[in-house]
Amino acid sequence: MSDTNNSNTMWGGRFEGGPARVMEKINASIGYDRRFYTQDIRGSIAHATMLADQGILTRDDLDRIVEGLNTILREIEEGRFKFSAALEDIHMNVESRLRELIGDAAGRMHTARSRNDQVATDFRLWIRDTIDRIDAMLVELIEALLGQAEAHAETVMPGFTHLQVAQPVTLGHHMMAYVEMAGRDRDRFAETRRRLNESPLGSAALAGTSFPIDREATARALDFDRPTANSLDAVSDRDFALDFLHASTVCAMHLSRLSEELVIWSSAQFGFVKLSDAFSTGSSIMPQKRNPDAAELVKAKIGRVMGAYVALMTVMKGLPMAYGKDMQEDKETVFDAADTIELAITAMTGMVADLEPNVAALRDAASSGFATATDFADWLVQNLDMPFRDAHHATGAAVRMAEDRGCDLGDLPLSDLQTIEPGLTEAVFEALTVEKAVHGRKSYGGTAPAQVRAQIARWKEKLA
Ligand code: ARG
Repeated sequence: MSDTNNSNTMWGGRFEGGPARVMEKINASIGYDRRFYTQDIRGSIAHATMLADQGILTRDDLDRIVEGLNTILREIEEGRFKFSAALEDIHMNVESRLRELIGDAAGRMHTARSRNDQVATDFRLWIRDTIDRIDAMLVELIEALLGQAEAHAETVMPGFTHLQVAQPVTLGHHMMAYVEMAGRDRDRFAETRRRLNESPLGSAALAGTSFPIDREATARALDFDRPTANSLDAVSDRDFALDFLHASTVCAMHLSRLSEELVIWSSAQFGFVKLSDAFSTGSSIMPQKRNPDAAELVKAKIGRVMGAYVALMTVMKGLPMAYGKDMQEDKETVFDAADTIELAITAMTGMVADLEPNVAALRDAASSGFATATDFADWLVQNLDMPFRDAHHATGAAVRMAEDRGCDLGDLPLSDLQTIEPGLTEAVFEALTVEKAVHGRKSYGGTAPAQVRAQIARWKEKLA
């Protein structure tokens, strides 16, 4: 293809012809990395200020540069900035506009810097800002879960294993399980933030610079904890983006599990909860339908987030030191994953806050399926001093008897139960109520309302 345009790019001194059109198309990242504009301008101001403080740039030039950059910031924010694909990326778009605004001084801003350390800095700053936003969203999700947990600390529901009724639990306990998950998500993002908080700025293209720069100063100005210690690593490291995507993927997985439960629970067969109108849709043909679309979408969104992780890991895995243009492929999927996880957390928070559990249906479901069979066995152990294995066997026989008669354990006449175990007394029936079952499980972290309330209190204190 000889189709070229004559764009005047930054390296015009070395090149005669312009790029093929398809080259411009594959090469340009401005379509997405314009999202870095705040971070890019902030980084440039920090860099230029340091250059002036070190006597590498005059005060006059610095003033012009800072004023020009602030003008550009306003132009972009007000939608007046003209982005150009010929100028490839956000860094060159900004510098080129700066030259239009302030003339030659603009050309001094890039002293002792390269786009390689610049983009690495911008990306870290952007992910750091994004993590701060996500953390606040996770706090809101936790608060919504705590609200439901508090309202339903006593609400009995069936606990499942293998999606088969296992033992009664409280809805509050179930909600608090997701609080634990969201809490770990916060930790994971915080850990990512802690590790990424080093400044690559001043690593230049790959080897550092011969100018007497002060990397501590730029690190400080950008709220980094310290400068990165190896310039080769600094320009070619994208671990921080992978860490972010990992944290996002695990978070999306948690949201996906809760979503699946909401889908199951809101079905006519379960009828455990009602999702609000705000998060449901009707059907264009079936008037009775209330579809849990938001939950289904949150569940499905994980594909994009996990896909982004795989995509970036694949980009990075075979890269020789240091920067390679391959790395330009690091951004688009991260942006999409970040947008996706923010949307998913927000939608989930809304769904949880609006959720209307059907307390009667939950209790009914907890009383069926022999959910208190374990309590029957425990009663035999506690009151007749039976070894648990024998108690398990006797309970199995009682369950079979109830199954044969199509009734619940608690509906069997005592005299019939005594044919299985003569030591049984009326008192066993009390142990078979779901309330007794959940109140009894007061081991630390257990489902008893008292335990659930203690955990709610612990979390509230943690958030305060
Ligand atoms: N747009 C580039 C990226 O996103 C910026 C760095 C370009 N560096 C270079 N040496 N071509 O990775």
